[in-house]
Amino acid sequence: MNQALVIRGGTVVNADREQTADLLCVDGRIVALGADAAAQAPAGAQTLDASGQYILPGGIDPHTHMQLPFMGTVTADDFFTGTAAGLAGGTTSIIDFVIPDPQEPPMAAYRKWRGWAEKSAADYGFHVAITWWSEQVHADMGQLVQEEGVNSFKHFMAYKNAIMCDDETLVNSFQRALELGAMPTVHAENGELVYRLQQDVAKKGITGPEGHPLARPPLVEAEAAQRAIAIAEVLGVPIYVVHVSCQEAADAIARARARGQRVYGEVLAGHLLIDDSVYRDPDFARAAAHVMSPPFRPKAHQEALWRGLQSGQLQTTATDHCVFCAAQKAMGQKNFAHIPNGTGGVEERMAVIWDAGVNSGRLTPSEFVAITSANAARLFNIYPRKGFIGAGADADLVLWDPEGTKTISAKTQHSKGDFNIFEGRSVRGIAAHTVSQGRVVYANGELRAEPGRGRYIARPAFGANFQALQKRARHLAPAAVAR
Ligand code: URP
Ligand code: ZN
Ligand code: ZN
Ligand code: ZN
Repeated sequence: MNQALVIRGGTVVNADREQTADLLCVDGRIVALGADAAAQAPAGAQTLDASGQYILPGGIDPHTHMQLPFMGTVTADDFFTGTAAGLAGGTTSIIDFVIPDPQEPPMAAYRKWRGWAEKSAADYGFHVAITWWSEQVHADMGQLVQEEGVNSFKHFMAYKNAIMCDDETLVNSFQRALELGAMPTVHAENGELVYRLQQDVAKKGITGPEGHPLARPPLVEAEAAQRAIAIAEVLGVPIYVVHVSCQEAADAIARARARGQRVYGEVLAGHLLIDDSVYRDPDFARAAAHVMSPPFRPKAHQEALWRGLQSGQLQTTATDHCVFCAAQKAMGQKNFAHIPNGTGGVEERMAVIWDAGVNSGRLTPSEFVAITSANAARLFNIYPRKGFIGAGADADLVLWDPEGTKTISAKTQHSKGDFNIFEGRSVRGIAAHTVSQGRVVYANGELRAEPGRGRYIARPAFGANFQALQKRARHLAPAAVAR
């Protein structure tokens, strides 16, 4: 049993409002919020003073890759070190990815990932990637949704000759997701074009990391986003586009939303703050450390992404935390196409977005909550258990010090990576305490993460989106002509 925890004097921020209120948490849940919450605390309850601080729902990072076998190697953070790093930055839940090899049954891959994730320090769930198609995959999708609490499926439209899924698989899987009440998601890049451009760029003698963005220009992303959105529209399925990195893809989402389509977009902290000049760093290791897909873009795209979040056309923020160390990145020393793709950020996401988003006036604290937890919780159907501060919700909280500062560095990060894409950036607004399941797991620089404390969070199917979509489909259903 958890000890009771009282949090006094803070400003509680939800996606819809801010209020000054005390909180009482017992056995991992919030049980009371308001002026008399502290008075209801049992004797011996731990008390935290949050005066001058915001109390935010713990961050949800809906896109991470802990312990991922990818491009011939395995990411440096496992489920313990990665989730622990998240806790140090105020992120209390992740949604990671099960990525079956082509021909591997999704259920078998899922079981493997569930085993790997048992050492998580924070709560977690899984999107499951559909990398090939067969009757077995069709059946496994059903089992995943109906028995295992998976309500989203991922489709990689890039990574040809590996995990890329073609249009036939997209169509089959989107249709199956619709009947199961699960959200299809896509990594939108045209894998055929990437494959061709990688070879063309290398033939021009450009074999270093500066070739990476040349092989993955914005239109490569926009085409795939547009295609996936169109397929989803025809089938009447909602769709969630992960790591939207460019204006053109954000525009495709905004256009579809303007047509009334249920389309959602995720933005990575890195894409909001880092531009493509990093790939021209004369130091191979530093340039390669930034190789991730889609690549960092010219600065103008960052503004488009911020505007997308501000306007509500883009709904969530994530990191795609997928850490490879210098020795792993060196696999692509002779050819950028072999540099393992991925960067970190699970610990930094909340602080860098607060600093650049809230301190600059782009976002209110409530809007910050929406894009760092509440919207992800809604879209993946774990709201209001997660992403919300109120009686009955999980006691996953951050005491956020808006005046606290730190300078980000790989030397002080909790991730096992040897690089930080936000190196040297000073931020104002940091997690002072992180509470997970009612326990203080991070306190002013001291991390108390424990392996195995995180729980698998089953996510029910048929979120609110699907009820509306089913009604809409019935409303618009065509009828045969009676002759
Ligand atoms: O470069 C990236 N993003 N690596 C992780 C896999 C993916 O595409 O999300
Ligand atoms: Zn079917
Ligand atoms: Zn991706
Ligand atoms: Zn990813």
